[in-house]
Amino acid sequence: MDEIASSVGTPCYVYSRATLLEHVRRIRSAFAPLEPWVCFSVKSCPNLSILKAIAGAGSGMDVVSGGELRRAMEAGCQASRCVYAGVGKTDPEIELALRAGIGLFNVESEEEFATIASVAERLGIPCDGALRVNPDVDPKTHRYTSTGNRETKFGVDLRRAAAFLRATHGNRWCRWRGIHLHIGSPIYDPTPYHQAITKALSLIDELAADGIALDTLDLGGGFGADYTTGQSPSATSYADIIVPLLAARVAAGLRVILEPGRSVAANAGSLLVSVVYTKDSGDRTFAICDAGMNALLRPSHYDAFHFIWPTRPPAGMVPSVRCVRPEMDGLVVHDIVGPLCETGDFLGLERAIPRVARGDRLAVFTAGAYGMSMANRYNSSPLPAEVLVDGDSFEIIRARETYDDLVSHERVGELAVTLA
Ligand code: LLP
Repeated sequence: MDEIASSVGTPCYVYSRATLLEHVRRIRSAFAPLEPWVCFSVKSCPNLSILKAIAGAGSGMDVVSGGELRRAMEAGCQASRCVYAGVGKTDPEIELALRAGIGLFNVESEEEFATIASVAERLGIPCDGALRVNPDVDPKTHRYTSTGNRETKFGVDLRRAAAFLRATHGNRWCRWRGIHLHIGSPIYDPTPYHQAITKALSLIDELAADGIALDTLDLGGGFGADYTTGQSPSATSYADIIVPLLAARVAAGLRVILEPGRSVAANAGSLLVSVVYTKDSGDRTFAICDAGMNALLRPSHYDAFHFIWPTRPPAGMVPSVRCVRPEMDGLVVHDIVGPLCETGDFLGLERAIPRVARGDRLAVFTAGAYGMSMANRYNSSPLPAEVLVDGDSFEIIRARETYDDLVSHERVGELAVTLA
């Protein structure tokens, strides 16, 4: 890690190709009895080289915007292998997806269905759709990332879904193929999946009784990741709950889709930062780093825990597990903060770590998912570099932004448009 940081500089995201692919393999193997169509959730880690590696291993992609679809295709994943969710698909995005031959629209509302069908008719390009239903289960996760309760903006209330599917079934421009679920992220208890799938299967059966055959069930994403060691159920633990519910259905022709993001990418990536200054203020010790909530928003936005440790700890000071309070003598409680002008700009508060000094580097773990993809340029911070490690070599898969990049889209006094 330190060698990479010396060569590439900080802040920098470092991903392991082997770990990414191993996580995809574990999901595939746990769910093998369902022969699922695995669509990696692009939003979790959208770098082209990452997508290329995952697409190269046979996965499709879950996209939620025209931009993500473009990335998936640019990385070598055909649109026909992509599923497209998102509550605000615009007409141009729908047109782009139709022209590209999108595999499945995950439709989030009645109005969106009407729009997709009418754009498809205008272009003369029929498409397949799955209705995202809101099963009203509690995924027991952060309220910002709970999506399966009734009072969120996602999907169509389960109680309205049957009537809507009956009314629109037979539309030749957007043909209903199935039901889409995505109940939240991360979900550490597999039980809500059981509840949501059971509700979705009753809906499928109710419609089948009316002669409306749906052959696809998209389970979305949400599997957890180990921010602390041993925190998350394994892929097999989720599969143990889900496979028995669906195995007979799959044998009878049901297609199952999974959209994992975090469980693939989170523990395949770390963020490396450097300590710019240390400071004792009142009774707190601060490690002020060269990046904070601009590079990794999760701690300040969700109060999320990311394990942090120096890349070159003193001899013997290497914890055997990632945990909130490592048991070790000689640790010093630090607030590990960024350089931005916000008190909420931190990577970790009250962390017992070996004492750090100016110039030391810190690794922020489990940062591969929703790290770089949520990074921003607040305080005019150039976006971090990204590096992919493959065996004993590494490549820069996104160059660090420069100050020229920061200003390159802005114009001073050149583009005045007169309003009518
Ligand atoms: N499918 C859909 C429709 C989604 O909205 C999401 C994530 C996924 C799949 C992938 O979920 P995963 O397997 O990664 O849990 N920024 C938040 C997470 C937001 C998740 C949004 N949707 C965070 O940093 O925790």
